[in-house]
Amino acid sequence: MKVLLGVSGGIAAFKAPEIVRSLRRKGHAVRCSMTRSAGAFVTPLTLEVLSQYPVYREEYLQPDNNGDELHISAARWADVFCVAPATCNTLARLALGLADDFLATTALAFTGDLLVAPAMTSEMWEKEAVQAHVTTLLARGVTLIGPVVGPLATGETAMGRMADPDEIVTAIEATAKGGDLEGRTVLITAGPTHEPLDPVRFLSNRSSGKMGFSLAVEAASRGARTLLVSGPVSLPTPRGVERFDVTTAAEMADVVDRLAQEAEVVIMAAAVADFTPRSTSETKLKKGAGPPRMSLVATPDILTRLQEIAPNTLRVGFAAETGNLESEARRKLVDKRAHLIVANDVSRSDIGFGSENNEVTVFRAGKPPLTIPLQAKRLVAARLLDLIRQELDGGEPGMDTAGG
Ligand SMILES: Cc1cc2nc3c(=O)[nH]c(=O)nc-3n(C[C@H](O)[C@H](O)[C@H](O)COP(=O)(O)O)c2cc1C
Repeated sequence: MKVLLGVSGGIAAFKAPEIVRSLRRKGHAVRCSMTRSAGAFVTPLTLEVLSQYPVYREEYLQPDNNGDELHISAARWADVFCVAPATCNTLARLALGLADDFLATTALAFTGDLLVAPAMTSEMWEKEAVQAHVTTLLARGVTLIGPVVGPLATGETAMGRMADPDEIVTAIEATAKGGDLEGRTVLITAGPTHEPLDPVRFLSNRSSGKMGFSLAVEAASRGARTLLVSGPVSLPTPRGVERFDVTTAAEMADVVDRLAQEAEVVIMAAAVADFTPRSTSETKLKKGAGPPRMSLVATPDILTRLQEIAPNTLRVGFAAETGNLESEARRKLVDKRAHLIVANDVSRSDIGFGSENNEVTVFRAGKPPLTIPLQAKRLVAARLLDLIRQELDGGEPGMDTAGG
């Protein structure tokens, strides 16, 4: 495989030579591009010697370049373009489509698989602006590798550490293998539902849809035909995903019932309202009339019904709990006749609803629970799909839960 490694200016750039060395050992051809700032953290000579090829830098704009359009030839040469480390500045430039240096210009000219391995402090990683750029990149089909929780250059242990070079190399190689869910259809639900009380008010919950959308991004990137039924969320449609927007639990149930016939796997990551108002006022409830009397009725239990509607599907439910995680998850496994229940503790502020990260425990009938440790939702999604693929293949899941 021909790998173009883009190195931007963060402390983790000192690990770029390790990535080059590892790729070369595995027989891949590597060329490197460095941003202006990257030179402060790693020398071009090191990357040049290890890759056995001159490093692309800003000289590509100089007149002694023989008129070569190096950004075009480099983009055409590479099968995979991986930016590691990807600083928040470079993530922003990629998301915005800027072409202000060799790396960013080449990324625009490049038509193959783009991977980014962010590295920064947890404050920077969690910043809304950075997350918005990451969301944009994911929606365009860019593969995110990490970041992970680990020791940072600041001395603390937190989210933001670049994924290990080994993991980055594995992710690069995985892109060449094609999708392991090719030919499968995966149906995913995401987000909350809104149960209307009147034309302006509704009952809902804090689900942001990020976990379900991360699963959709991951399923699509692995080649699955991915059907995403989403409640009201403000997230862009991931590339390659067929999206169906719904508002209420009843609408979600209808769409899932219809689509489940086509799917082999149904992953119910949506936080569907359990109750809905018995009646909805057609006009806005007025304050002057005093507190309204409200009567609620149960919504359809979409997951439970699936056993009859689509008995041959692999059914995966989510349990968002604030206590008794294990007993609740085990009860749901039985009551809802699910194959897997993915439980997370939404009382924790660092994971669950709205958070960028998650930590979940997967419960399966007759098997010990598996914990997927705290990491970015996209990585949790990847581990869950590993497990789901193994279940589909009928094999004994040997999931690596060590993280990353
Ligand atoms: C010592 C030092 C360490 C830095 N580490 C990081 C980092 O880990 N992640 C990051 O996003 N920016 C980091 N920065 C800031 C970037 O170097 C800066 O935003 C730069 O403009 C990035 O440019 P580039 O993305 O074009 O390489 C660091 C800066 C300094 C001085």
